[in-house]
Order: sequence, then C-alpha cells, then structure tokens
Amino acid sequence: MKIAMVGSGYVGLVSGACFADFGHEVVCIDKDQDKIDRLHDGVMPIYEPGLAELVTSNVTAGRLAFTTLLQDGISGVDAIFIAVGTPSRRGDGHADLSYVYAVAQEIGQHLANDAVVVTKSTVPVGTGDEVERILRESGTTCRFSVVSNPEFLREGAAINDFKRPDRIVIGAEDEFGRDVMREVYRPLFLNESPILFTGRRTSELIKYAANAFLATKITFINEMADLCEKVGANVQDVSRGIGMDNRIGPKFLHAGPGYGGSCFPKDTLALLKTAEDYDSPTRIVEAVVTANENRKRAMGRKVLDALGGAESARGKKAAMLGLTFKPNTDDMRDSPAIAVAKTLTDVGVEVAAYDPEGMEIAAPLMPEVAMQDDPYAAIDGADVVVIVTEWDAFRALDLRRVKDLAKTPVLVDLRNIYHPDDVRGLGFEYISVGRS
Ligand code: UDX
Repeated sequence: MKIAMVGSGYVGLVSGACFADFGHEVVCIDKDQDKIDRLHDGVMPIYEPGLAELVTSNVTAGRLAFTTLLQDGISGVDAIFIAVGTPSRRGDGHADLSYVYAVAQEIGQHLANDAVVVTKSTVPVGTGDEVERILRESGTTCRFSVVSNPEFLREGAAINDFKRPDRIVIGAEDEFGRDVMREVYRPLFLNESPILFTGRRTSELIKYAANAFLATKITFINEMADLCEKVGANVQDVSRGIGMDNRIGPKFLHAGPGYGGSCFPKDTLALLKTAEDYDSPTRIVEAVVTANENRKRAMGRKVLDALGGAESARGKKAAMLGLTFKPNTDDMRDSPAIAVAKTLTDVGVEVAAYDPEGMEIAAPLMPEVAMQDDPYAAIDGADVVVIVTEWDAFRALDLRRVKDLAKTPVLVDLRNIYHPDDVRGLGFEYISVGRS
C-alpha cells in the first residue's frame, strides 16, 4: 500500500516509520523545511528510543521518504493520514483544529486519485464530519472516505505500542474506508492484534474516553496515596491489593506527582469542553482535572515541608532529579517538575537540576533553575534531594555519595523508586508518596 502521513511530529513520524517497516511505501510530509532536511540527514526532531534506527533502515530500504510538498506526497497513495497537532486552544481548552482543517483543505485541492483520509490526530467528536464537508466542498471528483483511527502511543514506548497494540480502533462510515484500513493494518491483523470497527464519532470519542479513564485511574490512586499518609497505610500495597482484581487491573496505579505530558492534560480539557458543548456534564473528569492541577503544586509544598516549611526554606538549596513528565522522553509539556520548581523558587529556594534528556527544553521553562551536567553536581551542597521523574539513572544512585555530597541527607522521592528501609538505613530522612 502507498501511504502519506501529513505531519511529521511525534505521532506522524512514529506511525510513518512503523507503517514503512510493515512493508508499506510511506511518504512523511511536513511544512517545516528544516525538520525535513534534518530527517533526510537522519536527525530526529524528537527523542524516542529506537526511532532513529527504524527511520534510517526504512529510508535505506526505499520504503520511507520525506517531503515538504503535500501535492507530491499524496499523489497516488491509498491512504492519507492527518497527524498534525491539536493543541489546547488558549482560553477555553478546546482542541485547536485549525491545522487539521488546513490540511483537509489542501488535500481537497490536490487529491488526484481515490483515497481514504484518516484522522490520526486526537480530534473531538464531529471533526471527521467537518473534514468530510471540507473535502466535499473542495470540489474533488475523486472518491474519498474519511476515517478516524486514533493513536494510543506512549512516549518512550511508542514503537512497541504501534507494533504490538492492545487494539486498533477504526471508525469508518463506509465499506471503502473499512477495506483500505484493513489492508493498511493487515500485518497487525495477521499478528492477531484486535481491530475494533466502529462508527466515526464513536472512534473519536473512544480516544478521549480512554485517556480520561487512565487519567482518572492515576488521580484516584494519587488521592488514595494522600489518604494512606494520613491513616498510616501503604499505597503500593493498596495498588497491588486492588490491581489483582481483574476488573480493576494493575496498570496506571502508580502514585506520583500527578500526570503530565502531551495527551492527558490536553485531552481531559478537550473532553470537558465537548461535554459542555453538548450539555452532558462529565463531573468525574472535571474533578480529575482539578485534583491533578492542585497536586503538582502540593508536591512542591511537600518539598518545602521537608525543608522545615516555606519560611525556613528561603535560601536553602534543593536538587531536582528528573524534569520530564516521565522517563525516556525529552518532553516537558505539563511536567509536574515545572510546578514543583516554581513552588520552590517562589519562596526563595535555590534549585539545581539534572535530567538525562530534558534539560535543553526545560531550561527556558524554568529560568531560575540551574541545570547541571550530572546528578551529583546537582546534589552537591543540597539541603534536600527530590526525585521527580523515575529515570533508570536515578534508581541506582550511589546513595553513600549522595549523603556525602548533600548538606543534609533528606530525600524526597515523588516516584517511590526506593525502599524506605534501605534509604533510612543509610541515615537519610526519607519522604515518599503514600507510604507513611
Ligand atoms: C498517554 C497514553 O498512555 C497514550 O495511550 C496516549 O495515546 C497518549 O497519552 P503518554 O502521555 O506518553 O501516553 O504517557 P503515559 O505513560 O501514559 O503517562 C502519562 C502521565 O501519567 C505521566 O506523567 C506519568 O508519569 C503519569 N502516570 C502514569 C502516573 O503518574 N502513574 C501511573 O501509574 C501511570
């Protein structure tokens, strides 16, 4: 099959490279000339484990190409995926669909053969209808079908998620759309990955419902963690205890500093907006959004408490280990680290930080934080060491060295990556999440 992927950002690039690896012929299109030039040179615009190798091998095999010209890229293809950004619109939280619609318009102007147009970007219910209207009004004489095919890729594990998905969701309104998508995903079909065919609007909603549900699960366990601290219980055991129930399941029950990233914060807000537009309130999601926002600052206050409260924290030094919203990415979007750092610097704490991949992007977001070249440089002279992101590099810190370098041996572990007894046994004051 021939596939065009419009938008060579995170989702477009991973999806395009994986489709090429399945044996399809793929062209990734992006307006950003610089990005396309760098891709031609094998330089990835994002950090994602395994992506550079996957792109290079498929380019070499002649199955993956890049262009800035949409007209060339979509010529003769069976499926055109729209994978451009849908950021939160300033002010109302609604997904900004201007990029999606601009691409639809351009496709309409240049479509010269029958093709399926697939929205892979996360788009609110009804967007497919609008894309269809735009294409129809473009006056194209080619046969087309607009399909919804949401992605469920986790950053840092995106290639595996694409190649071994829990499920593939395809929302199509006609047989042409379903047939082409069956071919596109045939390699996974043969792998016995479940494919769920639904209506287009249902498919669009599935994406938001999935992310809102996962965000709810995380927020639920985070609130349980707070309760554990008050009642003297252990949240990790609570997670295990409830997760062993098949109806609940063990995943997404790790208590921490709150969810961040490019999807959960944006998609929960967009779902609330849709619910408001249709006058069908989603109170649980509303509560999740508020609780998660409050939690990020609360984690900053937890660190201040470890420094003896806001008053005595002024002038003290904190070392932050990990800045990205989760490990194995350089993504800083809505990272809890931003709120934690702000809470500290607001009251005059000096913050030094280290992150294996995120510092370049983090630096302008937290100008008051001094970025360091390695974790121990950040820890040197610190009154408190805070683990914000659970990078593997922090799971095996030389704790004796940490203790020697820090001014006071206080460790705040917002990801529960250490065993309290081990750390306390070395003479640390150890504060974690939901483990009293
Ligand atoms: C998510 C979805 O998992 C993916 O299916 C969707 O398409 C895009 O959004 P991603 O944002 O890459 O993926 O990261 P994910 O691994 O889901 O983590 C999101 C946030 O939740 C992170 O901040 C993470 O630290 C946090 N989290 C996750 C927890 O705090 N506890 C958990 O148990 C799981």
